[in-house]
Amino acid sequence: MRLAGKAAVVTGGASGIGKATAWLFAKEGAKVVVADIADEKGQQTVEEIRSSGGEATFIHSDVTKMADVKSMVEKTTESFGKLDILFNNAGMPSGTLVVDLEEEEWDRVANLNLKSIYMCSKHAISAMISSGGGSIINMSSIGGLVSGKYIGGTAFCASKAGVLNLTRSLAVHYGHQGIRVNCICPGHIVTPMTQILWKDPATAKKIAAKYPLRRMGKPQEVAQTVLFLASDEASYITGAIIPVDGGYTCI
Ligand SMILES: NC(=O)c1ccc[n+]([C@@H]2O[C@H](COP(=O)([O-])OP(=O)(O)OC[C@H]3O[C@@H](n4cnc5c(N)ncnc54)[C@H](O)[C@@H]3O)[C@@H](O)[C@H]2O)c1
Repeated sequence: MRLAGKAAVVTGGASGIGKATAWLFAKEGAKVVVADIADEKGQQTVEEIRSSGGEATFIHSDVTKMADVKSMVEKTTESFGKLDILFNNAGMPSGTLVVDLEEEEWDRVANLNLKSIYMCSKHAISAMISSGGGSIINMSSIGGLVSGKYIGGTAFCASKAGVLNLTRSLAVHYGHQGIRVNCICPGHIVTPMTQILWKDPATAKKIAAKYPLRRMGKPQEVAQTVLFLASDEASYITGAIIPVDGGYTCI
């Protein structure tokens, strides 16, 4: 029970890495808000958590909308009395390169992958200050550190790179108020988002070959890292950028 008594929000918690993390947080004793735009999958995630003995609730929240984000944090603090942990996980892929990239796609990708983290953090940090501190974990990607085939296009890599220094900036300015902010950079993880890659055996093989560990990752392997950063075991870690990438960025 590494998160006993903690209140946590997981954005994009209805699927993939977010779902695995919401489930693990609840297993470790946290009260979890699954925040997502996918209502049916979000409710289903909550039902699965409850049926395995955990505490969870679904809040419909489009994290690209300031009003939704504000209300998500307000509802969390009303329900659970506080907010201790925020996993800024919601995001989207985009493989388009700059010459073909329309302004509308740039805005959509940057709004979800980067601006949403500013908005969620803005409201969450205010709530965390009121209750004496907290832990924020931001989702970047190996695409925030490097670029290449099968990683993502211009807007994806730029937005995920922005998350790195947004993380450091928040860590520097709110550390003295007991708020830790860290960032993870996963490699290719087997989730619904990447099925176009792993469902094709030839592509999956090519991707796996780029990794020292010779395979893609599992959502649970990312969730375990997020759990560590969320917990008091990481009490002296802030502003860290942690690859969860099977060694991809070592090469
Ligand atoms: N899967 C990977 O290989 C991989 C690698 C590196 C980083 N990531 C990042 O991890 C995060 C989760 O990815 P995943 O693979 O679990 O994807 P996923 O598609 O399984 O889950 C993403 C979730 O985000 C939700 N979402 C989308 N737009 C939203 C919005 N506006 N507001 C709230 N929720 C929204 C979706 O409904 C979905 O439930 C993303 O930020 C992604 O960029 C994934």
